[in-house]
Amino acid sequence: MVVADDIPESAVSTRNISKNYGDVEALRDLSLEFPRGQLTSLLGPSGCGKTTLLKIIAGLLEPTSGEVEVNGQMVTGPGPDRAFVFQDFALLPWASVMRNVSFGLEMRGVAKSEREDIAARYIKEVGLGGFENAYPHELSGGMRQRVGLARALSVDAEVLLMDEPFSAVDEQTRRKFQEDLLGLVQNENKTFIFVTHSIEEAVYVSDQIAILLPRPSRVHEIIRPSGFRDKGVDNIRRDPEYLDIVDEIWASLRTYVE
Ligand SMILES: Nc1ncnc2c1ncn2[C@@H]1O[C@H](COP(=O)(O)OP(=O)(O)O)[C@@H](O)[C@H]1O
Ligand SMILES: [Mg+2]
Repeated sequence: MVVADDIPESAVSTRNISKNYGDVEALRDLSLEFPRGQLTSLLGPSGCGKTTLLKIIAGLLEPTSGEVEVNGQMVTGPGPDRAFVFQDFALLPWASVMRNVSFGLEMRGVAKSEREDIAARYIKEVGLGGFENAYPHELSGGMRQRVGLARALSVDAEVLLMDEPFSAVDEQTRRKFQEDLLGLVQNENKTFIFVTHSIEEAVYVSDQIAILLPRPSRVHEIIRPSGFRDKGVDNIRRDPEYLDIVDEIWASLRTYVE
């Protein structure tokens, strides 16, 4: 058992991560700290290595050099402490919402009644109460994304890796999602690592934004936006401080966007 005082402030650290795919140098010497209880966004143009970094943290991909630590333990492969919320949902099309959400627990051998209790709690928490028996094809894109999120939460992974989870949903749903995500960040003492290419979204939802520049990807700047969450997504769009920070980030990135 680790006593509370011994838990390092950062739940996840990446140290000097480099990744080459053949001749393509995707990441170079990337070091980042991801504090527990906070949401850190990886923000950068397409192709700058965000998905690669998430997969390395998940243990699904080995870095060419460097290492990842989760609570001081070196990552050598996938583990129950980390859950990936995939961009494409990755749901079982033939299984109900309940089965999809409890699937991770089923894989871990948790008894049916216990896993269904746990799954039911998270199905409600992500706003899908009443849809336990629905199948993925009966749900909207946004709802399917929630199923993926509930599944990640139900295995009680401490680190949630989210790869552009809201990119496939319409603007209304996206805003609702952002609110819901912030509720989770507040209620669950987990480490949220969130990939987005939307500057506005990053500024709104993040405790910390790592701005990545491409070819090869490296950390350009760390920004800690504050106070925007409390104002609500509908109110910040004309907020001068919000617009300033969005402009500032855009200025950093614009030369790299083709
Ligand atoms: N399996 C792969 N094989 C070869 N190159 C890859 C592979 N996966 C990603 N890349 C390249 O690595 C770079 C980073 O990709 P990726 O991590 O997907 O970026 P992002 O998620 O930021 O869009 C890109 O240049 C991409 O083409
Ligand atoms: Mg990607």
